[in-house]
Amino acid sequence: MSSVGILGAGAMGQGIAHVASIGGWNVQLFDIDVSVAHAACASIAARLNKRVERGRMSAADAQAAIARIEVAHEPSHLSACDLLVEAIVEDMDIKVQALTALIGHLPSDAIIATNTSSLSVTSLGQQLGCPERVCGMHFFNPAPVMKLVEVVAGEHTSAAVVDTVASIATAWGKTIARCADTPGFIVNRVARPYYLEAFRCLEDGLGAPDGIDSAMREAADFRMGPFELTDLIGHDVNTATTRSVWSSWNEPARLMPVHAQEALVASGDLGRKTGCGVYSYAGDAPVAVIGPGQQAMTLTRPLTAAASGFAKAIGEAASSNEPPLQVAMMRVLCGLFNEAMWAKADGVADAHAIDTAMRFGVNYPKGPFQWMKDVGEPVVDAAFEALCADVSEDRFARPATGA
Ligand SMILES: NC(=O)c1ccc[n+]([C@@H]2O[C@H](COP(=O)([O-])OP(=O)(O)OC[C@H]3O[C@@H](n4cnc5c(N)ncnc54)[C@H](O)[C@@H]3O)[C@@H](O)[C@H]2O)c1
Repeated sequence: MSSVGILGAGAMGQGIAHVASIGGWNVQLFDIDVSVAHAACASIAARLNKRVERGRMSAADAQAAIARIEVAHEPSHLSACDLLVEAIVEDMDIKVQALTALIGHLPSDAIIATNTSSLSVTSLGQQLGCPERVCGMHFFNPAPVMKLVEVVAGEHTSAAVVDTVASIATAWGKTIARCADTPGFIVNRVARPYYLEAFRCLEDGLGAPDGIDSAMREAADFRMGPFELTDLIGHDVNTATTRSVWSSWNEPARLMPVHAQEALVASGDLGRKTGCGVYSYAGDAPVAVIGPGQQAMTLTRPLTAAASGFAKAIGEAASSNEPPLQVAMMRVLCGLFNEAMWAKADGVADAHAIDTAMRFGVNYPKGPFQWMKDVGEPVVDAAFEALCADVSEDRFARPATGA
């Protein structure tokens, strides 16, 4: 195998073409708008040339990778592709229509991979009439930089196809996490509490956005705090993913959208792209424009004791935070731990794949299961016990099967 067709030359298709060409594969890049495919080739070439200038790649390797990418002008140009990676708009009907028009031009055993973030791989395979050769191959943005590929097995995807997609992604230099075809797969589901629980802590008056952000950055070692990160992602995009995952998993309280974030979307304060979100970007440095909620959560003695023990297990910087921020950090981290446990219990993936996905898909400092081990069972148990007693809606109820 060595020839891939890529359907859609937008943000993701372009990045996947880059990854595949560096991986030594011939690429046929196909877009409904041929000028987009040509522009994508030009920007891949520019990026590779920049790597040469910085001494990160030889000129010969860059030229060879650039030469391996061709713009496909018609479906027949895909006739030698062993693999087709679909990366067009996130709309099932459009994906089915576009792929149906191409399938007859591919070799009869070609693998059809979809980069969908939220649609059912099983349903796509069924609608295409060849479910055994349809597999999810979920790259993260920007694909040349982000290490993770979630390899998603549809209900009827053949084991050989899943294995082949996994080994191609690995050969292209990616780290893979295998998972089942469930809403949000691993990363887009397990990451939700990082945003949601942080907004709830803000509503519960546990800290200002910059306080909670720096607690997560400096004490818990995340690259970005939840508010600066959601401002960057865009609250419209972030809440749409939350809504989709929440409703597809039967609306559990753990994943319920939060009023404070929905209000930002309603007022058009979508984050950096509109100049204002949780922070305003009008001046030289971001300034928080949302304050902590007025009705502060009661900090009971068992809760602060659990948070203090939890902070000590996380590290020195966490230990030196004030009690409300220690409680906030414990809530956010336990939210992530719990969602990881529920994902495992729901059969989304095993603990190792979940840890890998969170480390390489969203650059978490540790995978949730490893983190729970490092914190230690008694401390984790004490944290969940205190949270179950003091936080409403059973959000911190763990699945029976546990970690
Ligand atoms: N952007 C992300 O952060 C991200 C991350 C992971 C997965 N995804 C998924 O990747 C897919 C693509 O997302 P994107 O952000 O690259 O979108 P995009 O809008 O940047 O690009 C989509 C491209 O598909 C082309 N296209 C549309 N209809 C077509 C058709 N019928 N035939 C051929 N080309 C067609 C468009 O011209 C456009 O160039 C979606 O399924 C999305 O959910 C996106």
